Amino acid sequence: MCGIVGYTGAKKAAPILIEGLTGLEYRGYDSSGVAVLENGQIKMVKAKGRLKNLVELTDNGERLPGTVGIGHTRWATHGEPSDVNSHPHISKSGRFAVVHNGIIENYLELRDFLIARGYEFVSQTDTEVIAHLIEYYYNGDPVETLRKVMNKLEGSYALGVLSCYAPDTFYAARKDSPLVVGLGEHENFIASDMPAVLKYTRRFLLIDDGEIVAVSPTAASVFNRNREPVEKQPFTVEWDVSAAEKNGYPHFMLKEIYEQPKAVEATLSPRIKNGDIVLDTIAWTEEQMRTFDKINVVACGSAYHAGMIGKYFIEKLCRIPVEIDVASEFRYRAPIVDNRTLTVVISQSGETADTLAGLREAKKLGSRVLSIVNVVGSSIARESDDVLYTWAGPEIAVATTKGYTSQVAALMLLGLKLARVRGTVTQAQFTELLGELQALPDQIRAVLDRNVEQIQYLSSVYFASNDAFFIGRGMDYALALEGALKLKEISYIHAESYAAGELKHGTISLIEKGSLVIAVAVDKRLQDKMRSNIKEVKTRGATVIALAPVGNNLASEVDHVVTLPDCGEDTYPVVAVTALQLLGYYIASARGCDIDKPRNLAKSVTVE
Ligand code: BG6
Repeated sequence: MCGIVGYTGAKKAAPILIEGLTGLEYRGYDSSGVAVLENGQIKMVKAKGRLKNLVELTDNGERLPGTVGIGHTRWATHGEPSDVNSHPHISKSGRFAVVHNGIIENYLELRDFLIARGYEFVSQTDTEVIAHLIEYYYNGDPVETLRKVMNKLEGSYALGVLSCYAPDTFYAARKDSPLVVGLGEHENFIASDMPAVLKYTRRFLLIDDGEIVAVSPTAASVFNRNREPVEKQPFTVEWDVSAAEKNGYPHFMLKEIYEQPKAVEATLSPRIKNGDIVLDTIAWTEEQMRTFDKINVVACGSAYHAGMIGKYFIEKLCRIPVEIDVASEFRYRAPIVDNRTLTVVISQSGETADTLAGLREAKKLGSRVLSIVNVVGSSIARESDDVLYTWAGPEIAVATTKGYTSQVAALMLLGLKLARVRGTVTQAQFTELLGELQALPDQIRAVLDRNVEQIQYLSSVYFASNDAFFIGRGMDYALALEGALKLKEISYIHAESYAAGELKHGTISLIEKGSLVIAVAVDKRLQDKMRSNIKEVKTRGATVIALAPVGNNLASEVDHVVTLPDCGEDTYPVVAVTALQLLGYYIASARGCDIDKPRNLAKSVTVE
């Protein structure tokens, strides 16, 4: 997804902007650019491709003068990746430059409006209309001008605006796309996400929808949609810069796989006190917890897969229906939601537009919304009734790992708490399951200690595969979905997941000699059924790698068995997924893929 940075202070702006954009690369992009202001003149450099092109063009920003500027990494939505479609975009007279993250849904109408008034367009982007609109409405007051422009815009945006009339100030505004203001010492910043400027400050203002900011070296003045000043309390980030560094790992993804024991522990342990679960940040009464008669889970990608595990776990324990939707579908199925529905919104970034839209729909329908989010102060967290934070720390790799396992751990904690309050588990069951949750970090460590070598070997044998089929039953099917997504998003191998029992109803026609099948067979209660499904594909020539628990007797039925350490019958997905993450990682590594920044993908898709 696009990244925005802005700087004003005493230092040369361009090097800081480029450095900030480097901190946002993980969001996914295909071009980049910066604009700075010097002696009332806007100077801009932008280029298709990786940031290194911008670095070369500007000698890492040193060639660009000026102490105020804005920068951008673009993830193309309107107009192919190209120099001219890169941001910033300049207004007709060259007096304004704009960077934008989001989608202007009525840009064609605005384009016609402006063309009819003599404006010409050089790009195919929606963003360029904003630059010309600012010029069209400019009346000497940039904040008032932005207010008028925002009233014309439909869609989502986080904006950075440079004006030749303001020697040391730039402007910003947001609706639906993330934006923070970084507060430095006699210098201030904007960014799409905090890691971009964490080197300079830990203090931030969280900008809300409809707000406009005037950023000078000494002040960040926030205004609401009616141009009234808004007082904001600075928010201080606790995690340190090194958390956003690789610390010797070849990729952030591998580092974050190895951080999972700590991430799961940090998510669980503050909430387990004296043998009970205390959901610290949730203001429900126990009475309210008993009134919910249904749970809806809304999420995207891996967060959706985490929600699937949660569905199985919570339905089994709490005996209430748990419906689950991919967020982009939820709104369009006329969901049956009311004030007895608990909507659980899951999002690592807390900024995914589809998920945020699902949250708003659920609230509109009267549901109480609990979000499970990894980024404190993110849009989804701020718009939820309650937040159950995952404490995984910053996750930089696009393909989530510790974010996913922390989400599953949080869902299990939630499910066990609800079951306890609703009286659907005995004290003995509660104590046993709580113990299983507390054992998770060590069980993940055991996978990282014992299974890596074999998985590396298997990756070296099968990395050239063109297709992979992941099959499983029950929670193993939800795991298979996540395993397939991990593999395809970073290795670009066509990988799909099927309910193992469903394979024979069609897809098995694709199985031929040498087809790679990953049989996720960790649930001991379903192992016999899985054995039959393994036989079905083996007799058609498939090569089968099974993921199975200790004591399995699958060795004679498959080509390889990855045997997991002992884990809980109901909590094992948090452990088993580690093996699937490692498989995806090492296969992608063997294929020389850009693991942390896979093509076409973004860490958080802040457009619908
Ligand atoms: C996708 C990411 O864009 O968004 C996935 O590539 C992620 O890894 C999905 O699971 C949802 O993101 P989030 O931040 O809402 O959990």
